[in-house]
Amino acid sequence: MSRSLTGVVGSILLVVACADADAKPGFRQSAFGKTADGAAVDLYTLTNSNGMVARITNFGGIVVALETPDRDGKTADVVLGFDALDAYLKSNPYFGCIVGRYGNRIAGGRFTLDGKAYTLARNNGANHLHGGVKGFDKVVWNAKPRSDANGVALELNYLSKDGEEGYPGNLAVTVTYTLTDDNELRIDYLATTDKPTVVNLTHHGYFNLDGAGAGDILDHVLMIKASRFTPVDKGLIPTSELRDVKDTPMDFTKPAAIGARIDAQDEQIAFGPGYDHNWALDRESDDLSLAARLVSPKTGRVMEVLTTEPGVQFYSGNFLDGTLTGKNGKMYGKRAGLCLETQHFPDSPNQPSFPSTVLRPDGKYKSTTVYKFSVLKP
Ligand code: GLA
Repeated sequence: MSRSLTGVVGSILLVVACADADAKPGFRQSAFGKTADGAAVDLYTLTNSNGMVARITNFGGIVVALETPDRDGKTADVVLGFDALDAYLKSNPYFGCIVGRYGNRIAGGRFTLDGKAYTLARNNGANHLHGGVKGFDKVVWNAKPRSDANGVALELNYLSKDGEEGYPGNLAVTVTYTLTDDNELRIDYLATTDKPTVVNLTHHGYFNLDGAGAGDILDHVLMIKASRFTPVDKGLIPTSELRDVKDTPMDFTKPAAIGARIDAQDEQIAFGPGYDHNWALDRESDDLSLAARLVSPKTGRVMEVLTTEPGVQFYSGNFLDGTLTGKNGKMYGKRAGLCLETQHFPDSPNQPSFPSTVLRPDGKYKSTTVYKFSVLKP
């Protein structure tokens, strides 16, 4: 056999081997690159018994790809992201990452706890957003693969040092992604601190149930189990009010197409360029329960969001503008994906009427969110 033919046969075998490895339930680890300061980062491929695949990197805990079948069994990757680590290092609008120490905004980048004032990084105008300049989305986590009765899992650990981005206390964080055999991506968050601090962790996946790069999400039908939302000011800081969604474009208590009312301008709710608000979920307990349901009428894919959190930030990808080229060279235009970030309410450290985000050394931060995939029955 000639050298080049051997090469070709070799590559074919390699491709077949990779495809096979992906199809088998289990776990695969490969190099994903190096950060600017030389830390090696890996990509972990989790496959469940139905062939659903999640690719997760320990840089920022980013879900790089999530492959699920449509109603005809055709698989597509339903999250926005990049092919290579370099692009995530350059400019990432929080695609697929873990957000921390505090998801969403803290007004003026400051808060007072037990009478002591703290100043945080201001990285969103005058405000603090998503944990600051170098939040949990931009750090390298320690990764431990695991497999248990629920499926295959990746445990990520990070120690956020006292004073990081201005926050008090050493915060030890564990985030575990589990890909279950029920086609769920389950995220369990745990954290402990050695000084009183504030914590609000979330996942910032941008979903498009037609596949990443397949256009916008305006035809997706969304239900949010919330009869109230937190109106915001021009800087997207909650005004403290909990307002009824009734008769407003914020009413998703009954499933509605996202595009139906997205351009309705309403000064009163500072509606702005689209949805980017926190909904206060209707909950009977703190147990894991349904928060939202997203359906693509085109492909029949369904995603349910279950959480133990009191709120969800529905962000309709308003700031995507076509300048980012994503996986497989696909361009991501305005509203190419949407986020359903389960959370405590934005600016809670400054809003005594909101559920508390304070964590003390004798306490434990515990939170779970599940993104569950299925298809519409014919
Ligand atoms: C969150 C914020 C938005 C925006 C996106 C990322 O959803 O609320 O305003 O920052 O993250 O661009």
